[in-house]
Amino acid sequence: MLDDVQEVLVSEQHIARRVQALGQQISADYRGREPVLIGILKGAVLFLSDLLRALTIHASVDFMAISSYGTGTQSSGVVRILKDLDHPIAGRDVLIVEDIVDTGLTIRYLLDNLRSRRPASLRVCVLLDKRERRQIPVELDYVGFEIPDRFVVGYGLDYAERYRNLPFIGVLRPEVIRDQGGR
Ligand code: PRP
Repeated sequence: MLDDVQEVLVSEQHIARRVQALGQQISADYRGREPVLIGILKGAVLFLSDLLRALTIHASVDFMAISSYGTGTQSSGVVRILKDLDHPIAGRDVLIVEDIVDTGLTIRYLLDNLRSRRPASLRVCVLLDKRERRQIPVELDYVGFEIPDRFVVGYGLDYAERYRNLPFIGVLRPEVIRDQGGR
């Protein structure tokens, strides 16, 4: 698997340090409150689990799974909920935890959908911000790293469901993507 990686964009150590810092910042910002972290399956699972351990305040966790109708590499903004939250969020301090914001269409949908459920507050924490690709403006409250417009895998992000278990954020060799029938 490691042979398939052309370049490491964000190392395991950099991720760990940044996630700790985000955890401290979020713990300070939400002091005296008890936010619910909403992990968006599946990409955010690794980030969420590390971020949760970096919090020093009480927090609960819930998950949503969504599927976006698109071309495979490009989301369309038309989103279907595959798994909804287990619990209502009305009156709660909600923090959406995402692995990556690209066009912004998915996070915009999630913000609109969750806002309609009347949370006390609603913020976004994203590990990777691919800002050059943005199609609609979205406000991101906590950002791990801004990255260039390259197809990245690892630390939860997949290519054809593989490579989520890489401990870093990396770029695959082009022939790997060709051989596995992709873009
Ligand atoms: C990724 C990511 C966001 C979305 C971002 O999910 O987790 O949900 O794409 O793209 P956008 O800003 O262009 O809308 P993906 O569809 O890869 O699902 P996964 O997390 O299950 O791998």
